[in-house]
Amino acid sequence: MELKIGLVKGDGIGPEIVDCAVKVLNKALDNSGHYAVYEELCAGGTAIDKYDVPLPAVTVEKALKCDSILLGAVGGPKWDTLPGHLRPERALLGLRKELGLYANIRPVKLFPALKDRCLLKDAAKIDIVIVRELTGGIYFGQRGRNQTEYGIEAYDTETYNEMEIERIGRVAFEYAMKRRKKVTSIDKANVLESSRLWREVMHNLSKQYPLVEYNDMLVDNAAMQLIRNPEQFDVIVASNMFGDILSDEASQLTGSIGMLPSASLGNTKRGLYEPIHGSAPDIAGKNLANPIATILSVSMMLSYSFDLDVIAKKIDTAVEKTLRNRYLTKDIGGDLTTDQITEKILEYL
Ligand code: IPM
Ligand code: MG
Repeated sequence: MELKIGLVKGDGIGPEIVDCAVKVLNKALDNSGHYAVYEELCAGGTAIDKYDVPLPAVTVEKALKCDSILLGAVGGPKWDTLPGHLRPERALLGLRKELGLYANIRPVKLFPALKDRCLLKDAAKIDIVIVRELTGGIYFGQRGRNQTEYGIEAYDTETYNEMEIERIGRVAFEYAMKRRKKVTSIDKANVLESSRLWREVMHNLSKQYPLVEYNDMLVDNAAMQLIRNPEQFDVIVASNMFGDILSDEASQLTGSIGMLPSASLGNTKRGLYEPIHGSAPDIAGKNLANPIATILSVSMMLSYSFDLDVIAKKIDTAVEKTLRNRYLTKDIGGDLTTDQITEKILEYL
């Protein structure tokens, strides 16, 4: 099979880590009867420099013709002073929306080899999946500014409808059925009306999954529970904003934000795969970035978009062996460069 993959290398460390992930993907596909063809898609800061917009229409057009998309990271200080609608991050939000990728899957797993990097003293088994709603909520609600007698006021709105809540809930429950059968839904129902609807819909949906243990948790409590007793979580389902915040927090349970991959999925097989971290401009071009989150994103792509689970597993195993043998980048306590750790993963493959 030919795998047509769009590459949004992006900004900062984006190009370096995507290049590593592509090497790993090509190697993993060797002799499998499958091969990847790549199309580079311009988005983010690079697109602003070239086309004056973060997400040119041609990028969306081309993305829709790919089987799947791998994205590095977008953004950087150079574009930080641009108005909101022209910031590089708009590219990411636009791609998610245009491709209908409403479900963001973020597995949070502590590799046994990195136990000493986990913030918690005696973390036994951390294996959580955060299912984050990705095309609604405050990220996409009404926003603006008004002049008032107290100066300028600014607002953003959190809006969710039943359809959006139910469809992300369903992703979470289906996921839980394949795992430890537990769903924790995150909200702020003691304050927010949108959260009260979220909770109602999740409760009703949970009745369709009698085998799944369901509970809801206020987001502030969840932030605490994640570092107090992370083993209690199996699948966490959260709004766009709460999922964004909790997934960064959870990444620290795995040792480094450089370890967490993600898949953004919709109703088709076409997904967008990216590390959860940003463009890390401070280390860009220095061969220091940890490429593992992006490499693991490729593994997720193989499973979800192409049903090539066996090949995906090979990548996961190669990463695991690399870590177990203490080949580590700086963020996880070693001194290997981006290229060196990639070489090791390729060797184990
Ligand atoms: C993420 C990032 C993005 C988000 C930013 C870069 C817009 O933090 O993917 O978690 O908030 O979704
Ligand atoms: Mg984030």
